[in-house]
Amino acid sequence: MSAPAFDPIDRAFQGDGLGREVRIRGWVLRSRSSGGILFILLRDRTGLVQVTARRDVVGDETFDAAEHVQAEGAISVDGTVAEDRRAPGGREVRAKAVRVIEAGQPFPIFSDQTEEFRLDQRHLVIRSQEHVATFRLKAELLRAFREFLDREEILEMTPPILSGNAAEGGSEAFRIDYFGRPGYLSQTAQLYLEALLFPHERVYALTPSFRAEKSRTPRHLTEYQHLEVELAWCDLSGLLEVVERMIASALRVLADRRPKELVLLGRPPEELRAIEPPFPRLRYAEAIDRLAKAGLPVRWGSDLGTAEERALTLEERAPVFVTHYPRELKAFYMLRSADDPRTVEAADLLAPEGYGELVGGSCRETDVGRLTERLRETGGDVAEYEWYLDLRRHGSVPHAGFGLGVERVLRWILRREHIRETTPFPRTPARLTP
Ligand code: 4AD
Ligand code: MG
Repeated sequence: MSAPAFDPIDRAFQGDGLGREVRIRGWVLRSRSSGGILFILLRDRTGLVQVTARRDVVGDETFDAAEHVQAEGAISVDGTVAEDRRAPGGREVRAKAVRVIEAGQPFPIFSDQTEEFRLDQRHLVIRSQEHVATFRLKAELLRAFREFLDREEILEMTPPILSGNAAEGGSEAFRIDYFGRPGYLSQTAQLYLEALLFPHERVYALTPSFRAEKSRTPRHLTEYQHLEVELAWCDLSGLLEVVERMIASALRVLADRRPKELVLLGRPPEELRAIEPPFPRLRYAEAIDRLAKAGLPVRWGSDLGTAEERALTLEERAPVFVTHYPRELKAFYMLRSADDPRTVEAADLLAPEGYGELVGGSCRETDVGRLTERLRETGGDVAEYEWYLDLRRHGSVPHAGFGLGVERVLRWILRREHIRETTPFPRTPARLTP
């Protein structure tokens, strides 16, 4: 005999299913008993339903056992779908039999506990409705990005996480002891994607990146999901078009497939649908002019901080590209602009509403001489990058790429105060467990 099949809970709410026999299982959200009737709110991955169990129907032994099931305990129920105007969704399952799978100990999570305690209890806290909705949206966002990249014939690659190079600058890389030699956790897959681009032309990777930044800001994690794309035969305007189409298409997917979760978390789906390409483009030089007029003077060559980024985007509904930064602000591999040698062909995409940088991208320097010079100027060890310089010696072609911080994008979409709310087990300077 095969194992009994269980129904997803949302089946209880489908069509005119009143009177239907169902067999469901899941976790108890909460329960109470009154006058020989037990009311249980039961959750599975598809939904939430009220189960009622009557002592005179299920019998004393079962009733007593079910009554002792704690919040987050697990049970299965055989019953019938019935109408009940007071139940969530207007329907309930009237139990004929209840089986206790694990009664559970008292669940230690309440809404009024401190943030520190809740972070210590993260392995349990992630069962909350908000976290469930958040990580469903995150899964959908990743799927939407992959669907877009697939349609664009951009191929997924699997670059290494362990490396002998610290690609984005040594100071922010996590050093590890690699059998007695120094190694690093990847800050970016870019250099490997550049190598893979010559045989494949259009590549991407979705991998964790690590940043040993002690900065305790609401937008920095020490480990985050990094979506990186590298395209041959691509200039800056071509690159920005891919970025804006990818983001707009993912926002539409979220609005279409996960409207309930968006509403629960306070982002109306229509707001996401309204964000369409092209996104505004602003040169760094124009940005600092604008900031000076707004009373936030920035000297040429200084980076834009949180206040400046906020001022530039506060009035915007869509993200904004800031392009052509001074070269000393940016990484060694960025291509010098032909029309202004002080700047590079680079862009940061800034979220509206002051949520800051979502994407960083650039055209890559193809000239081996200039690349070596910039590497030296920025304190890099040329010998370690020999393999990377080789890429410029064998059929180097114009190419460009970008990196997107998945949690940054989700934080903006969900308007979360802190980026840690967009990842189940956040890694920050202060936190490595659970
Ligand atoms: O701007 P970044 O440092 O660029 C690079 O690493 C390039 N090599 C990417 C490329 O061209 N392939 O990082 C890219 C993005 C940022 O725009 C930001 O969204 C995110 O990664 N990011 C972080 N997200 C969370 N926590 C951090 N500490 C982050 N640092 C960067
Ligand atoms: Mg950046």
